[in-house]
Amino acid sequence: MTSALFDFTPLWPTGLPAPAARWTGLARYSFVGGNNDPDQVPLDGLIDAVNAVLRREGRTLATYGLASGPQGYHPLREFIATKLRRDAGINCIADDILMVSGSLQALDLVNQSLLARGDTVIVERDTYQGALTRLSRMGVNVTGIPLDDGGMRMDALAEALGDLKRCGIQPKYIYVIPTVQNPTGTIMSEARRAELLALSQEYSVPIVEDDCYADLIWEGARPPALHAMSRTGAVIHIGSFSKSIAPALRVGYIVAPWAVLSRMLALKTDAGSGALEQMVLAEYCPPHFTTHVPKLTRGLRAKLETLMDALDAQFGTAAEFSDPKGGIFLWVKLPDQVDTLKLCQAALAAGVSINPGPEWSTDKAHAGSRLRLCFASPSHEQIREGVAVLAEVCRKEFGVPARIANVERRAR
Ligand SMILES: Cc1ncc(COP(=O)(O)O)c(C=O)c1O
Repeated sequence: MTSALFDFTPLWPTGLPAPAARWTGLARYSFVGGNNDPDQVPLDGLIDAVNAVLRREGRTLATYGLASGPQGYHPLREFIATKLRRDAGINCIADDILMVSGSLQALDLVNQSLLARGDTVIVERDTYQGALTRLSRMGVNVTGIPLDDGGMRMDALAEALGDLKRCGIQPKYIYVIPTVQNPTGTIMSEARRAELLALSQEYSVPIVEDDCYADLIWEGARPPALHAMSRTGAVIHIGSFSKSIAPALRVGYIVAPWAVLSRMLALKTDAGSGALEQMVLAEYCPPHFTTHVPKLTRGLRAKLETLMDALDAQFGTAAEFSDPKGGIFLWVKLPDQVDTLKLCQAALAAGVSINPGPEWSTDKAHAGSRLRLCFASPSHEQIREGVAVLAEVCRKEFGVPARIANVERRAR
């Protein structure tokens, strides 16, 4: 390992984020990180795709952007445009799409192009930690809107927009995860989407629609995307292959008008996102995506059942949760005396990693006894064992759940 003989400390400019912790590996029972199920990566199809695409056009790797230009590999953008038209009702073409390194880079580009220190952004009260940390690092004020089982509450949004306006504050955007909300797992109805768009128009606040879980719905068709329903072009749509194929590929995309994409492209200084990954996806997806995804979601649903059963068996009525509509996580409420920031530390020492609620919420008190459990990556056996260890740690630290024999089972 390189040792630091030279002292760089005086050179760091002010405003750098705190140093990253060194990675120490996944916990034995890992319920964090949004990882996918290793058994569900479509390896054979990806191997065939990589062979076929490299044989056919591998020499284009010699050119930045594969001779497709800075927006990303054209055949993949064609596939995405077709898929978005079919599944989400979005009427776009390849030129409306910018390929990025995961939807995280999309969030960075949105923020860099729209935000300055002191600005205000509206988010769901419980929301993606990666979005919250980015906003707080930029010194942006965040207004959290409460959720119900249909997603962001429109009465609360209308009130917040009115309050902000009265204070002379014009929010820069509304960040929303309408299709399998992270962490609550809800899907916003078409009617509520229409209300959201109406409020966005009334107050002239654009929407950033993060749709990275939209493929992972247990049943039925997804509602149209906000982007598809907008008549004003005020929605920036973000998508990803992380959840439907594999997160380590780091392939995401932004759909927005050129006036917006052109500003983001000017900020995207990496000379293009990973090309081989884009080539492989463009080869694999057209013939396989629509058969792969239902198989993946069936497997995820089975793991969710195992998780909910394990929570019922170990925590009984002490663990409250709603059955999510899709996705890879469960948002759990424990009794108020449980501090999940403390539970997280104690559980980690016992080999179980969990996401403590306060890191996923703008309202730390409301989320203090909540936690997020990701279920795609651990095996069924690890889910069962991990939840048993978590219950043991929680009992020792906070006295809940009661002894196993006394655990009252939830009716489901
Ligand atoms: C809501 C949401 N947005 C964005 C991301 C980032 O995903 P990626 O950069 O892998 O596309 C995640 C990852 O878990 C997420 O949950």
